[in-house]
Amino acid sequence: MNHSIVSNIAVDQTDCDCLVVAVYQDKQLSNAAATIDKAGDGALSELLAFEDFTGKTGESQLLYKLAGINAKRVLLVGCGEKDGFGALALRAATKTAVAKVSNKADTKITSMLGDDLNTVDNANNIIMQMVLGAADSRYQFTSHKSDTPEVITGQHLEIGFTGAFAGDDQALNQASAVALGCELSRDLSNQPGNICTPTYLAETALGMARKFKNLEVEVLEEADMEKLGMGSFLSVSQGSDQPGKMVILKYNGAGNSDAPVALVGKGVTFDTGGISLKPGASMDEMKFDMVGSASVLGTIKACAEMKLPVNVIGVLAAAENMPSARATRPGDIVKSMSGKTIEILNTDAEGRLVLCDALTYVGKYKPKLVIDIATLTGACIVALGHEICALLANDQALADDIMASGNKVGDQAWQLPMNDDYQKQLKSAHADIGNIGGKSAGTITAACFLGHFTKDYRWAHLDIAGTAWNGKESTGRPVPLLTQFLIDQA
Ligand code: BES
Ligand code: MN
Ligand code: ZN
Repeated sequence: MNHSIVSNIAVDQTDCDCLVVAVYQDKQLSNAAATIDKAGDGALSELLAFEDFTGKTGESQLLYKLAGINAKRVLLVGCGEKDGFGALALRAATKTAVAKVSNKADTKITSMLGDDLNTVDNANNIIMQMVLGAADSRYQFTSHKSDTPEVITGQHLEIGFTGAFAGDDQALNQASAVALGCELSRDLSNQPGNICTPTYLAETALGMARKFKNLEVEVLEEADMEKLGMGSFLSVSQGSDQPGKMVILKYNGAGNSDAPVALVGKGVTFDTGGISLKPGASMDEMKFDMVGSASVLGTIKACAEMKLPVNVIGVLAAAENMPSARATRPGDIVKSMSGKTIEILNTDAEGRLVLCDALTYVGKYKPKLVIDIATLTGACIVALGHEICALLANDQALADDIMASGNKVGDQAWQLPMNDDYQKQLKSAHADIGNIGGKSAGTITAACFLGHFTKDYRWAHLDIAGTAWNGKESTGRPVPLLTQFLIDQA
């Protein structure tokens, strides 16, 4: 779907297959809807009087041959309480609208849904939310279906305003780039574990480096990691026939003197639990245990597409967690790249084991800050459910910035504490540190474990166990949050 922004639209005159306008709760007309009503001498009000449609969130109503209007059809979209309608509600309204007008004949759709919100403060975000909502509505993952629904191509979504668009020139470019980043992340994550292996993630990164000139990719093989002393990472990949990979992406958008932002993603392409085997129910969902890595790839793709002037280092800690004769036993002790020894009391707490070596390694790039992204703990779902991801950090200003970007773009993070008092739960009888922290505060103790390896820089950790997928499908989160954060930094 192509997009454009069009200012100064005359709502009654404009020619399109479908004109989309907002109606708020209790039939309150948006500015654009009021213009339509006037052009038809109250025709719209007459139709609304039937109360088939009253403007509640989620409602929609197609109208044909509306008097005084050039558009072939008009779609009314219920937008709920007028006061509560902001950029985030606009995303859902756009999703509803685009799902309605998916006929082949709909080549040009003009959406006025954001018109009443067109202020300097809102304008860029209006575009972001409309583009993401439309992309979300159109997304399907059908790579392995024999009968695929017909894909409608060549559609154009015109984002219309009755006045002059109040945002910047970059808004549409940025929003489209974020949508492409989300799509990449979702496609990778939806692939099953027999296809999306560590090698597949590495090849995806290498393919991106061929496409974008200012992106370089380097792949550390297991032998390289052995030389670097990454005993913690290797303790996870050693049980699998799939070789583990540490993939380094260097996006240079801002020239050489700027310290990079580092994004480190958990890339466990399938998590069986290892010898501490998981129960069978829903184990298939552990193909999503690489969404951290997928979101790093998606975010870097978004940056490259929009040519964002920032430097980003991406690290994918990619391994498969399998039980086998070569697998790590509970109780095994390994040495991490940092020199710290780890007693692996549960092989299912593998995410932190692959991440800690990646976090040590990334220090060599002297990053200005580091964010790791991981489907790390089931406890995170208990704490925050599937709506909001957990954020833990060793730097409050960084945590505040991440939360602000997330709130703005509608991809929210909520901070949990990581006081030193929790450290005692990670004590090990025989090594420097254990890899589990017992029954309570699982998300916090997992972050505290990572905190041992992030002392040299400003660092934040996103636990996305609850938000990375819903049911059986990847959500694309937290690509919007990460990209918005980088836009806000740039
Ligand atoms: N990948 C899982 C966490 C997870 C579980 C994410 C369910 C989403 C849904 C992680 O590797 C894991 O198994 N964590 C353990 C840690 C425990 C052994 C300390 C968990 O959360 O149970
Ligand atoms: Mn696990
Ligand atoms: Zn895992």
